[in-house]
Order: sequence, then structure tokens, then C-alpha cells
Amino acid sequence: MILIAVLMLIQQIISGCTAPRSKDLYKKELYREEEDLVSKKLYKDKCSLCHELPDIDAYPYTPEQWAGIIDFMHDTKAARKFMTIEETEKIKGYLGWLSQAR
Ligand code: HEC
Repeated sequence: MILIAVLMLIQQIISGCTAPRSKDLYKKELYREEEDLVSKKLYKDKCSLCHELPDIDAYPYTPEQWAGIIDFMHDTKAARKFMTIEETEKIKGYLGWLSQAR
């Protein structure tokens, strides 16, 4: 009898602990799904200046590789004439998010 009571108590404690945690996870998922519209616009405006807007899904790049591509565009392909470092950082965040959310 005591054993059952203890088990029930443990169960209560466990469910009490997991409930808020899964709620946090849910919040995180929601946050991840939110699109950063400012960065999206930057990407659409800036990355279509010299060539067609790259189709992110058509490239197998990881977020790190996208960051490298953007740095390459900025430093080597003279894209710095069209965008600031802050803007490249935002675009990196957006493309990283896109390539991760797949
Ligand atoms: C100043 C002009 C310019 C701007 C602005 C520019 N690019 Fe490019 N991009 C190029 C050129 C030139 C090439 C062809 C590079 C080559 O073949 O060496 C290229 C090629 C690419 C490629 C193909 C590379 C590959 O590995 O196949 C991708 C992807 C790309 N750009 C992404 C971007 C993104 C993302 C942005 C916005 C941050 C951007 N570009 C902005 C000039 C630009």
C-alpha cells in the first residue's frame, strides 16, 4: 500500500516536472518557425542584384557554408558595394534558418 502511494507520488513529481519542459520546447519550436521578415527582404533585395536570387533549397549547404558563401560574395564578388556587414549578418541568419528548417 505504501509502495503504491510512493509510486503515485513519484509519478506526480515526474509529470509535474515534464509538463513545463515540454511547454518550453513547444515555445522554442514556435520561435524557430517564425520567419524574420526584415532579413528575408534583405536577402531578396541584396542577393538578386548580380544574379538571380539563389534557390536555397537547390543547394546542399549547411548554415556555416551559407555564411561562407555570403562572406565570399561580400569580400570577393564586390557585393560590399551593395550591403553592409550588419546586413550580411542578417542574411546569414536568415539563410541559416532556412537551410536548417528543412
Ligand atoms: C556584387 C555582385 C553579387 C552580389 C551582390 C551577390 N552575388 Fe552571389 N555571385 C556573384 C557572382 C559573380 C557569382 C559567380 C561566382 C563564380 O562563379 O565565381 C555568384 C555566385 C553565387 C552562388 C553560386 C555559388 C556556387 O557555389 O554555386 C551563390 C549560391 C550565391 N552567389 C549566393 C549569393 C547570396 C546568398 C548573395 C546575397 C548575400 C549574393 N550571392 C550576392 C556575385 C554576387
